Amino acid sequence: MRTQVVIVGAGPSGLLLGQLLSVHGIANVILEQRSPEYVLDRIRAGVIEKWAADLLDDAGAGARMHREGLVHQGIEISFDGRRHRVDFDALVGKSVIVYGQAEITRDLMEARAAVGAETYYEIADVSLQLDQPGRSSVRYGRHGRVQEIQCDFIAGCDGFHGISRKSIPEHVLNCYERVYPFGWLGILVDQPPVSPELIYVNHERGFALCSMRSPTRSRLYLQCRLDDHIEDWPDARFYEELSRRLDPHAVGALHRGASIEKSIAPLRSFVAEPMRYGNLFLAGDAAHIVPPTGAKGLNLAASDVYYLWQALLEYYRERSAAGLEAYSSQALRRVWKAERFSWWMTSILHCFPESSGFDQKMQRAELEYLLSSRAAMTALAENYVGLPY
Ligand code: FAD
Ligand code: DHB
Repeated sequence: MRTQVVIVGAGPSGLLLGQLLSVHGIANVILEQRSPEYVLDRIRAGVIEKWAADLLDDAGAGARMHREGLVHQGIEISFDGRRHRVDFDALVGKSVIVYGQAEITRDLMEARAAVGAETYYEIADVSLQLDQPGRSSVRYGRHGRVQEIQCDFIAGCDGFHGISRKSIPEHVLNCYERVYPFGWLGILVDQPPVSPELIYVNHERGFALCSMRSPTRSRLYLQCRLDDHIEDWPDARFYEELSRRLDPHAVGALHRGASIEKSIAPLRSFVAEPMRYGNLFLAGDAAHIVPPTGAKGLNLAASDVYYLWQALLEYYRERSAAGLEAYSSQALRRVWKAERFSWWMTSILHCFPESSGFDQKMQRAELEYLLSSRAAMTALAENYVGLPY
């Protein structure tokens, strides 16, 4: 079997790249180790930059997002028990869309089915053959048999734990990492949001975030310990702890419904450089991870996909490899800016167990400055809505 581009992973980066290539006539096959149901059940990102929304439109998969997504023109930051609004519209004239990753994934899966492009789910033992310049192939197990696809290029869109990055020889990659000493405990609940906009909470007991998926569905997060288990967090304990961290007005608006999903995510910053090895191109979480505080992970996956899609178009339309040569450095420039923003949001909003008295004073000063300075809030807004591609 032969195709132009093999994409490993049917998360948002793989599906978005596949769809952009398909609608522009570039043949591609997606290989995914999980079932479609499993992929759709992962509750993750919720905030979409306008740039990523535009790309979904380019892929012909944005219609439901525009119908059902919630346009947000600001966020609130709660500090010392008081809420402060960061008005994106007034500060930078832009907004974001609150629309779940699972919905984007569903829309992309349906768009892919409509153009008749192939995705093989529940495949096993993917291995990449990268040794021969100009000739790549991917081997995998399907229905108990080993199969192979020849291709021009491989897109490694298989997330942080995938095999694509691990297929690059160690001496070629430089990895940069910070692991944070806490996680996020998240619940999804069919109850109206506490407030029309997201509330990011700095509190001495730890960070909290009140987000949403729709006018009737809330997504709530608490900073938790790395050794916490979800069994130790029945809903009653979750709401009790959240109430301690929220301002009284938000507590009054909190509906304590039964959670329909509960999970713990560790927080990490990670970048692997370069994002290319021969004919293999990494995109999304396969190449980098941000802590979720800046809502950047999915959005960075989208910008990688944009650069890679443009480079592949240039290659097939103009027979020029210039875009492919530039891909890694171009993508990484935006990646590092989002890494910085996500690290900074994490550092000003969380409680760090090892922090000294000086560190705590610095965090207070940073927040007091931020919330009293239009220039500082503009910088936050500019990054939150997304830097241009
Ligand atoms: P993934 O979504 O990880 O997809 C990779 C796919 O590859 C998976 O389907 C996996 O099964 C498959 N795969 C793995 N290994 C193999 C293999 N060997 N063979 C074949 N297939 C394989 N981002 C935001 O932008 N905004 C937010 O608000 C936000 N909130 C978040 C909240 C939480 C709690 C978490 C955990 C993340 C959040 N993120 C957010 C980050 C966002 O979810 C990720 O950045 C995004 O999923 C990355 O997409 P991806 O397609 O690159 O990787
Ligand atoms: C959500 C997740 C985030 O990491 C974030 O910063 C904002 C919203 C969410 O899941 O809704």
